[in-house]
Amino acid sequence: MDVVTTVAALQRRADAERAAGRRIALVPTMGALHAGHASLVKIARERADMVCVSIFVNPTQFDDPNDLAAYPRTFEADLAVCRDAGVDVVFAPDAREMYPDGAQTTVEVGALAEPLCGASRPGHFRGVATVVTKLLGAAKPHVAVFGEKDYQQLAVIRRLARDLLLDIAIVGAPTLREPDGLALSSRNRRLDPESRRQAVVLVRALDAAEAAVAGGERDRERLLALVREQIAAAPRARIDYAELRDAHSLALAPERLDDPTVLALAVFVDSAPQPVRLIDNRVLHPRTRGGLSS
Ligand code: PAJ
Repeated sequence: MDVVTTVAALQRRADAERAAGRRIALVPTMGALHAGHASLVKIARERADMVCVSIFVNPTQFDDPNDLAAYPRTFEADLAVCRDAGVDVVFAPDAREMYPDGAQTTVEVGALAEPLCGASRPGHFRGVATVVTKLLGAAKPHVAVFGEKDYQQLAVIRRLARDLLLDIAIVGAPTLREPDGLALSSRNRRLDPESRRQAVVLVRALDAAEAAVAGGERDRERLLALVREQIAAAPRARIDYAELRDAHSLALAPERLDDPTVLALAVFVDSAPQPVRLIDNRVLHPRTRGGLSS
């Protein structure tokens, strides 16, 4: 496994791979790697001959400097995860390499980036869209893999690739979970044991909503009330947002659900020294009831 720190070296490697007729897959990450990231590598491996993982804690996507400072950095352990997962190249640039002096171009996706995390973390998706565009330019992949755990991020990146005419397949990967259902996340390691226990309310709320829809519930407000009630069961949890939105456009869901709808959650879980913000989501299919179309 090679570790590359400059854009020029990565581009040279990409050119050589392409010249040899090999397909390149990129898995962008911010490090603090876990089994969820490794599952993305596995999917990348199935679709390419050479897998590159980028590890870069991108400052421009953090709206809160405390959150950036607290973001876990575990580079040596990350390299071990990559080695075990069969990664070919780790791209680990520093901030100057990604944002050289004088940089003044950003990438801004429209309506898809506005609600949910776009509303609660101003500038977040501009930072994500900009850095992902740069990483795609540096790694020159044929395929890039992103997790469905960050549902809106995946939607924004699909849109970006289409709108900017990038000849790159954007592949979505399912969310890997702990045995109790909590979605794996780099932020989970900032939860103290009691907060970790209570963090399971996110997936409980998703399960409850899914079960209600399977039982015939279609009323948006009743579903959201159910979600809020589930989250309220954890005294340390505070909802940032809990919303039902069209699974494709991310427009607000109608009062009565009909089309596929994403239930998107962001919840702060109190934990010392600072609260940890967790996100999760589930796509609900109101037209399928008990496995039968209604
Ligand atoms: P990061 O949070 O490190 O996530 C890297 C990738 O791993 C994302 O595509 C994310 O959706 C995916 N991922 C996270 N948890 C997962 C899980 N439990 N199961 C499956 N996949 C999971 O997302 C980012 O970094 C950044 O915004 C980035 C795209 C790298 C741009 O800086």
